[in-house]
Amino acid sequence: MQMCHLPIPWFYTPVRAVLKVWQQLTKTKFPELTQSSVLMRERSRVEEKIHAMQRAGAGSLQVISDFDMTLTRFALNGKRVPTTHNILANQLLIDEDCTKKMRELLNTYYPVEIDASRTAEEKMPFMVEWWTEVHELLIQQRIRKDMLAQAVKESSAMLRDGYKLFFNHLTKQEVPLLIFSAGVGDVLEEVIRQHRVFYPNVHIVSNYMDFDQTGVLRAFKGQLIHTFNKRDSALSHAAGLRELKGRPNVLLLGDSLGDLTMADGVSERQTILTIGFLNDKVEERKESFVNSFDIVLVQDETMDVANSILRYVTSSRY
Ligand code: C5P
Ligand code: MG
Repeated sequence: MQMCHLPIPWFYTPVRAVLKVWQQLTKTKFPELTQSSVLMRERSRVEEKIHAMQRAGAGSLQVISDFDMTLTRFALNGKRVPTTHNILANQLLIDEDCTKKMRELLNTYYPVEIDASRTAEEKMPFMVEWWTEVHELLIQQRIRKDMLAQAVKESSAMLRDGYKLFFNHLTKQEVPLLIFSAGVGDVLEEVIRQHRVFYPNVHIVSNYMDFDQTGVLRAFKGQLIHTFNKRDSALSHAAGLRELKGRPNVLLLGDSLGDLTMADGVSERQTILTIGFLNDKVEERKESFVNSFDIVLVQDETMDVANSILRYVTSSRY
């Protein structure tokens, strides 16, 4: 067989070299940020923040995350994944009438919670009503502490895809993770325990149940946390969490504009990078989310973007 050797033009090598440099310059370190489900008001500002956090290193970082519909999936195959409150709607814990009432309250107040035409201040009294009424109903049911784990097991509670990498990476890098939830703390703990990611670097601020000496629910502890008063809890808990001190950079994850105040208690804050999961009522809420969060993830059921950023921020290879 005869081979045909074409002469290589003289300019080929320098052109190839220039092309290679150009490819290197334009190659993004974050391919996840180029997906169509990722919206950013100012991409260059996001990259600046990521680089600043990387320069400061893992020792300066903390992660503050909401729980329901942020660390947990919003839906699976078109079906809603239960929130920590909704996991309690199990016949092991509450009767049919209570389940019905809780569902009615959800149908009344959830649309208010995600209403793009009302301000957080306008929504606040409705949120207080919703949480207060549901907590009263739960107390009347005399929920037993020792049945919570079984109720979680029987539920379809599910953390977002990539959660293992997220929790494992943070614990390995000794980066504290503060989970800040208006859900039910006892249920939240059980969900992450059953997913085997309740590591010592995980701290939780949430609504905790108060059980009597026989293990029956009698009240909720402390000040009520709902979607739009997280700032108050952020300020009051700030002093108590020693592990979070001296970590001025924050990666904040949430699914509500109310979650943006979760880092308000961090002292001497430097770089705060915020990621918002836009799960529901996408068109109505897109503008406000893009104006408020640095990165908005539209109906993304994974932790991929957060994982990619964390991998870079906690590495010293670059
Ligand atoms: O963890 P996170 O702060 O997101 O938990 C609060 C969420 O729980 C709210 O976004 C709300 O939609 C939901 N919720 C619920 N049932 C209630 C109260 C709140 O599903 N009774
Ligand atoms: Mg949430």
